[in-house]
Amino acid sequence: MKAAVVRRYGGPEVVDVVEVPRPQARRGEVLVRVHAAAVTSGDARIRAARFPGGFAVPSRLLLGLRGPRQAVLGTALSGVVEAVGDAVTSFAVGDAVCAMNAPQMGGHAEYVAVDARRLVNVPPGVSHDDAAGVLFGGATAMHFLLTKGHLGAGMTVLVNGASGAVGTSAVQLARQHGAVVTGVCSAANRSLVADLGASEVIDYRVTPLTELTGRYDLVLDTVGNLDLRSGRRLLTDRGILLLASASLGQVLRARGNVVAGLAAARRKDLALLLQQVAEGSLRVIHDQTFSLADIRAAHSRVDSGRKVGNVVVRP
Ligand SMILES: NC(=O)c1ccc[n+]([C@@H]2O[C@H](COP(=O)([O-])OP(=O)(O)OC[C@H]3O[C@@H](n4cnc5c(N)ncnc54)[C@H](OP(=O)(O)O)[C@@H]3O)[C@@H](O)[C@H]2O)c1
Repeated sequence: MKAAVVRRYGGPEVVDVVEVPRPQARRGEVLVRVHAAAVTSGDARIRAARFPGGFAVPSRLLLGLRGPRQAVLGTALSGVVEAVGDAVTSFAVGDAVCAMNAPQMGGHAEYVAVDARRLVNVPPGVSHDDAAGVLFGGATAMHFLLTKGHLGAGMTVLVNGASGAVGTSAVQLARQHGAVVTGVCSAANRSLVADLGASEVIDYRVTPLTELTGRYDLVLDTVGNLDLRSGRRLLTDRGILLLASASLGQVLRARGNVVAGLAAARRKDLALLLQQVAEGSLRVIHDQTFSLADIRAAHSRVDSGRKVGNVVVRP
């Protein structure tokens, strides 16, 4: 089968599409024929070994010193069950399924073997592009806003980086829950972020975060340019600062009204996101879609830091 392989850390040019053996579904696993997989900011971080401040050494120890041990990246994927391993009873050949396959990844390939406990059915009417696109940003937004931030009606929420994968889901989730949302993005993305539910949109090139005078119950930073002091300054008395892109120092100092660290991708959250996509209450924003052969271009687009929503490859 064809797979996008990363043997050493580097720019998009280190990604090679080559023939590799097709994986087998072992006991408890399902072999998925991948129809769409997101190229996320997380995939691009791993490819480039571009980790948030202080995480370079621990990340390389965990993922591989000179290149990722799991050479095929791609965590968020959607496809069709090709074969099931022993002891798998909940999925059958032909089912449309999707997964956040961390830490194994492997979605940037024609086939991937996934632990059946990670799979979620793709509801009728939801495309593989949408399923693959919604998982990464949607699960992260749910983790920070709902699980950690206890998002509720009437809250005021600031989303920094409102036009990215996490931001476009976060703005919609906050609005759905009855919050009053302020989005921070550049002028080019103003109308999109307003359409997604932000009642106010701030252009960070005109008004830097340090000059904001508003106070918010939840501040979700997906950009990584808020230090603890300036972040806390934006909070109401009961406010919580949610740092999706925190440095190691910030993670270690995160306590009280500051939350940082890895987002969980719980299966029940993924199922809920997909249900919302099926019902039309959650829009999946797509930047560009590429063939697997063009995956270097997909990585370049993610590296630009300008992608709007999600970049997807179709193996
Ligand atoms: N903690 C976790 O478990 C977890 C999980 C998922 C993601 N993350 C992290 O969350 C971060 C965001 O991920 P993502 O996939 O949503 O990123 P993304 O989609 O790559 O974000 C791109 C967007 O960021 C906007 N942007 C760039 N600079 C900005 C600025 N200074 N202010 C406001 N917006 C800006 C861009 O809009 P403009 O072109 O308009 O500037 C663009 O639309 C990443 O660092 C990722 O590693 C963490």
